[in-house]
Amino acid sequence: MAAGSLSQVHRALLIDGTEVAVKVQRPEIEKIIRQDIHLLYYLSRLAERFIPEWNIYRPTRIVKEFADWTLRELDFEAEGHHAERFRAIFKENPNIHIPRVYWEWTTKRVLTMTFSHGVKADDLAGMEALGIDRKRLASIGVDAFFEQFLTAGFFHADPHPGNFFATPEGSLCLHDFGMVGYLDEEARRILLHVLLAFVKKDMEGFTKHFLRLALIDERSDVGGFKKDLSNILSEFFYSPHPPSAARAFFRAINQGARNGIRFPSDLALFGKAILTTEGMGLLLYPEFDFNRELEPFVQKAWQAYWSPRRLLRSVETDLFDRLELLKGLPDRVEKVLIKLERGEIGVKLDAGDLHGIKQEFDRQNDLRILGLVLTAISVVTLGLFYLEGKRLLFGLSLSHLSAALWGVLFVWFLSRLRQAPLP
Ligand SMILES: Nc1ncnc2c1ncn2[C@@H]1O[C@H](COP(=O)(O)OP(=O)(O)O)[C@@H](O)[C@H]1O
Ligand SMILES: [Mg+2]
Repeated sequence: MAAGSLSQVHRALLIDGTEVAVKVQRPEIEKIIRQDIHLLYYLSRLAERFIPEWNIYRPTRIVKEFADWTLRELDFEAEGHHAERFRAIFKENPNIHIPRVYWEWTTKRVLTMTFSHGVKADDLAGMEALGIDRKRLASIGVDAFFEQFLTAGFFHADPHPGNFFATPEGSLCLHDFGMVGYLDEEARRILLHVLLAFVKKDMEGFTKHFLRLALIDERSDVGGFKKDLSNILSEFFYSPHPPSAARAFFRAINQGARNGIRFPSDLALFGKAILTTEGMGLLLYPEFDFNRELEPFVQKAWQAYWSPRRLLRSVETDLFDRLELLKGLPDRVEKVLIKLERGEIGVKLDAGDLHGIKQEFDRQNDLRILGLVLTAISVVTLGLFYLEGKRLLFGLSLSHLSAALWGVLFVWFLSRLRQAPLP
């Protein structure tokens, strides 16, 4: 009934008559994708070598991220787990449906799930025929996405309307969970700050919190980025028809790349996902106003963040973490002490130290060989002199000479002993 680039979806019946959708991966698709990725790596390395002005975008890293996402999409068992996680997130929400996975009929390349009835959410005529309230549907969809981003921290990263069904009852059915993003608690908190600053038209706040999400290194031009961000935000805050927060966010991430500032890949996915979410809203309901929808949600999420219940829960978990740590501390200390006693604790050296040690070792070895050779030659020379009947050298008897040589070597040896081996 549907064909994507990676798979085909078929309608089927289980033996007990249950109607299911079976998503089957195309044969050989993994091989083809791996070959394509291989080519992309090759091209990106060429680009890095021959087009230095592209280096700021780090082409190879982009290919690596692309490869990670795409290869993950090929694992339908993982997609099934994502579906289950979304089901758990939305189990209280009567307006959002997620197909159930039939694990006994699912493998890495075949995903069997409940069949959804409805029309694709990009089929405007179909929805019209079903008499669906599109404004309400837009709001259900966008709310569900804000919830994924800001509360659950686990989100569908490809929310275009073709992946969703509108059901005859006017609710929304989500499909296609191959690509997902994660936002941990800290990222969500910072995002909330960023979005709240956007809602309040607080340019400095936006910039400050946005930079907290960034990965900054010696190639990043933070000053340039701040200036660019202020230009983008002026356009958003002070125009009669301001573009949405989703657009601001997406443009800010892109502008970061131009200034050598990267963002974690999940954040880039988030940028893409909110932009697509806005697109879904606009398609369903052309007067849809992302900013207006965003405002109450951000306020609500902010209040939820500071709710005494949540704070108490976080104190509780933190407290338990600390108590667990304390409880285990004596055992761990004892283990470390035993290891120390047995001399099992290794010491980390850096390459510079090792190099120094090696040089000292080589020097000592050279000295030892030189000393041996010198001694041997001295003994042999004195022996030869004796055999040839010479009793004097430089007017000194050979025994005196030998004693003098011994004295010199002894003094030299003592001075070597006293020299500190290493700095
Ligand atoms: N559980 C389902 N019930 C009914 N139709 C489905 C179901 N899952 C997917 N589909 C249909 O198959 C299409 C392709 O599935 P999807 O998971 O989006 O595959 P792809 O990853 O190739 O885009 C969807 O757009 C939808 O129309
Ligand atoms: Mg799809």
